[in-house]
Amino acid sequence: MKICLIGFMGCGKSTLGKQLAESLKLEFIDLDSAFEEKYHMEITSFFNWFGEVKFRELETQLLESLLQKDDFVLSTGGGTPCFNNNMELIKKHALSVYIKLPFAILNERLIHTRKKRPIIQHINEDELLSFIENIVPKREEFYVQADIILNSDTFNVNKTSIIIQKKILEKLKIK
Ligand code: S3P
Repeated sequence: MKICLIGFMGCGKSTLGKQLAESLKLEFIDLDSAFEEKYHMEITSFFNWFGEVKFRELETQLLESLLQKDDFVLSTGGGTPCFNNNMELIKKHALSVYIKLPFAILNERLIHTRKKRPIIQHINEDELLSFIENIVPKREEFYVQADIILNSDTFNVNKTSIIIQKKILEKLKIK
């Protein structure tokens, strides 16, 4: 089984992906970490050195190669589905799950971690919420194409992971 988690930064794709992979006994892959390993560089430094366009080109290449693997839970980067033909690729190869959190919770979760995220590292604390409110609806054009949409009003890893598993089984019609 190939499962791909998508959603905005801070929605918990990596934490949930790890938990889900463990429960389903599947390999866990984090696209951002795989990128950093492959290019021996943190994503923030990569953006600074080579820019976002190059990052998106290499991100697509890496995504394409990882999707060829057999069974996995793959957590993507927040922008992954929204560039090139990535959402099409994801949908072709894997069961996709969009993890949707309210803007206020994304804001809370990103305020203290934004320095390591190139897209928001220069945004002030008091401007972050309006940035999120502006960009998420644009990205949702892609996110909502996912096979499963998980609307969560709190961030609770165990609870959300169980709901995702239930929804995956329903989708695959496994009772
Ligand atoms: C990005 C999100 C990041 C990372 C890169 C770009 C984005 O991943 O891929 O910094 O465009 O939203 P996370 O969602 O894991 O932070």
